[in-house]
Amino acid sequence: MDKIIREDVEAILEANRAGMDSLAGQGILISGGAGFLGAYFCDLFSLWNETSSNPCEIHCLDTFITGTPKRIAHLEGSKHFHKIKQSITQPLPKGLDASYLMHFASIASPTFYRKYPIETIDSNVAGTRNLLEYAQERKIKSMIYLSTSEIYGDPPADKIPTSEDFRGFVSCTGPRACYDESKRLGETLCSVFHKHKGVPVKTIRPFNVYGPGLRIDDKRVIPDLFTGAFYKKEIVMHSDGSPTRSFCYVSDATDAMLKVLLSPHNGEAFNIGNDLEEISMLQLAQSVQSMFPDVKLTFQKSEEKDYLTDNPQRRCPNLSKIKKLTGYSPKVMLKQGLLRLKKWYESDLGL
Ligand SMILES: NC(=O)c1ccc[n+]([C@@H]2O[C@H](COP(=O)([O-])OP(=O)(O)OC[C@H]3O[C@@H](n4cnc5c(N)ncnc54)[C@H](O)[C@@H]3O)[C@@H](O)[C@H]2O)c1
Repeated sequence: MDKIIREDVEAILEANRAGMDSLAGQGILISGGAGFLGAYFCDLFSLWNETSSNPCEIHCLDTFITGTPKRIAHLEGSKHFHKIKQSITQPLPKGLDASYLMHFASIASPTFYRKYPIETIDSNVAGTRNLLEYAQERKIKSMIYLSTSEIYGDPPADKIPTSEDFRGFVSCTGPRACYDESKRLGETLCSVFHKHKGVPVKTIRPFNVYGPGLRIDDKRVIPDLFTGAFYKKEIVMHSDGSPTRSFCYVSDATDAMLKVLLSPHNGEAFNIGNDLEEISMLQLAQSVQSMFPDVKLTFQKSEEKDYLTDNPQRRCPNLSKIKKLTGYSPKVMLKQGLLRLKKWYESDLGL
């Protein structure tokens, strides 16, 4: 396991060890397990297995449409790690025995969901339904469904910070609709299967998570800035720099998702993220620039026609609910998280 990721995962483990006892001997299905967020859980549960007398079975299901076999290669020798190469929209393998389900499989980067809109909708709707039906039949213990803060669209000023009761302001036909609207329908499916079929599912709405494991060619903003800095000596801004985001380091996000998975709050939706800093894209670009000598910062319209269409102007989470119900609080400040990500890119890419 990579050194930086291992340090992150060890800290999450130490903070949650007592609560993880219920995972002993259980099967855990992680759809999208080779992707950025899913792979952190593959590493977390593998590390937990190292010291457990009753290990859990980790089933990592992925098509590798955006995830890579390389990200999970170090786990493949373990007898408690099982790779399943298939789509979550297809029937699950016969004999799969899982009592915890984590549904990460989806295309998450705007550039790629605009390129694969139908596959994105299928993962979030058909894939979610497939898992919910499995959950109902197997009487599982807990499931989390990864929705997104994008379901809120571009909230008006009085709805920022945004809490879970804001219903959203989203186009149903714009270039981001394949993602936003299918995530919303996925949430509806979870709510219906909870109310009518008793499925113990919780919905997670992440706000801009970043960190080691995020592919440099993923096309989300932070990897894009690092691509410019590492390879072109130039960071190019494709907006005027004014939109804001609240970035959450992956170890905080993983801690939050684990706490929700292990909690009894079925049928609930939770914002997860970092409410310590809301920064503009210009400030973000300057933070990355400041880590590299001789890197220029320039402004240029994106070649992608819809790059900024329906792009939310501000995004900032209200985290009162998850803090109150699970005890979560974000710890990693942006400067520290970006430094860890830079180190990881240097080691992973051999720079
Ligand atoms: N990272 C974030 O900031 C963020 C924010 C909001 C929501 N989310 C949600 O969290 C989840 C994980 O995001 P991520 O950042 O890890 O993205 P990612 O692209 O790194 O990982 C997604 C994984 O799902 C796999 N996948 C896609 N479609 C699949 C399918 N039909 N069947 C099986 N595997 C499939 C991909 O190959 C990839 O490994 C997604 O549902 C995403 O929408 C992430």
